[in-house]
Amino acid sequence: MGKIRVLSDDLVSKIAAGEIVERPASVVKELVENSIDAGSASIEIELESGGRRLIRVSDDGEGMARDEALLCLERHATSKIKDVKDLFSLTSLGFRGEAIPSIASVSRFRMITKTHSDMTGTMLRVDGGVLRGVEEAGSPPGTDIEVKDLFFNTPPRLKFMKRPETELSNVVDIVEREAIPRPGVAFELRSDGRVLLRFPARDSVRERIESVYPGTRLFPVEGGEEGVRLTGFLGSPLEGRSTARKLYTYVNGRAVRDRFLTRAVLGAYGKMLEKGRFPEGVLFVELPPGDVDVNVHPTKNEVRFKNPGLVSGIVSSCIGRMLGNAPWLASYGRAPGSEPYWQGLTRERSSS
Ligand SMILES: Nc1ncnc2c1ncn2[C@@H]1O[C@H](COP(=O)(O)OP(=O)(O)O)[C@@H](O)[C@H]1O
Ligand SMILES: [Mg+2]
Repeated sequence: MGKIRVLSDDLVSKIAAGEIVERPASVVKELVENSIDAGSASIEIELESGGRRLIRVSDDGEGMARDEALLCLERHATSKIKDVKDLFSLTSLGFRGEAIPSIASVSRFRMITKTHSDMTGTMLRVDGGVLRGVEEAGSPPGTDIEVKDLFFNTPPRLKFMKRPETELSNVVDIVEREAIPRPGVAFELRSDGRVLLRFPARDSVRERIESVYPGTRLFPVEGGEEGVRLTGFLGSPLEGRSTARKLYTYVNGRAVRDRFLTRAVLGAYGKMLEKGRFPEGVLFVELPPGDVDVNVHPTKNEVRFKNPGLVSGIVSSCIGRMLGNAPWLASYGRAPGSEPYWQGLTRERSSS
């Protein structure tokens, strides 16, 4: 072993970047969550080459004044918590103050931002973690961040990038996942000039889900006991998918990809679902904050329930009820298209 050394800030942010910024979808997640935290009504995401060449996120949120814009490049600079008690009453998605400096350390980064009260905005550029310039810029209120040439200065990471189509489909998942519980925020995702997703602002989660799953029949799931509440819309076992990607689960409003929950859902579908298939749809679990440990690791989105048996029991009974009432039981073996009487969501796939 050599001598102990304190790592340089630059190296520390590259290491943190390795944890937070694994791929284009993680950049999109961090930037979109910042836009949501900034109170935006409309968020636009634009990609080139699956995010490898360009990721751009622009919002109409509260924006930043010049000194805030400079400060947000520093590690652990955040406007979202002040002291330790805030950790236990978090309402924002971010709080570590690591995303912006991490992203800026592994890309060519440009931010234009303006508050609603300032007359002019600020533009700043950072190349691979090095501040290249700060100037005044004309801009509408809000924040516009461009991330070019992701991982240009960390070649090993670059090698791990998947094909643009794969990276793109991960970004689609992230945008859907963030958009579902926030119907009041409009989202648009464009890739190489084409509109891939367009979710206009809506009044209810149900209407937002209709835009996310056009043409898919989803059935309401609802119930709960002992302080645990389950709501959502899930698909027919006859229309399972080969992956769990389009099954979006949330715990207390936070998106999670939790194996325990997925397994509970699969268990509830049981034999009705062909082996290796997953239902699509959306499930919200609400429970007292003390009954769940929402892991606050920057990227892991697993959770730990204090009483897992209670949660899986409720998942099982609610989904069981939905499956028992749904029309396919009666229409097993019947010609498709002859299911006249259910209440699920239906909408034709739009042409766009
Ligand atoms: N789109 C945005 N609009 C307004 N402020 C932003 C935006 N993105 C980042 N910020 C500011 O920069 C700070 C740092 O962002 P980030 O590095 O993601 O850390 P965190 O979100 O954990 O606070 C935020 O706390 C916020 O004050
Ligand atoms: Mg953040």
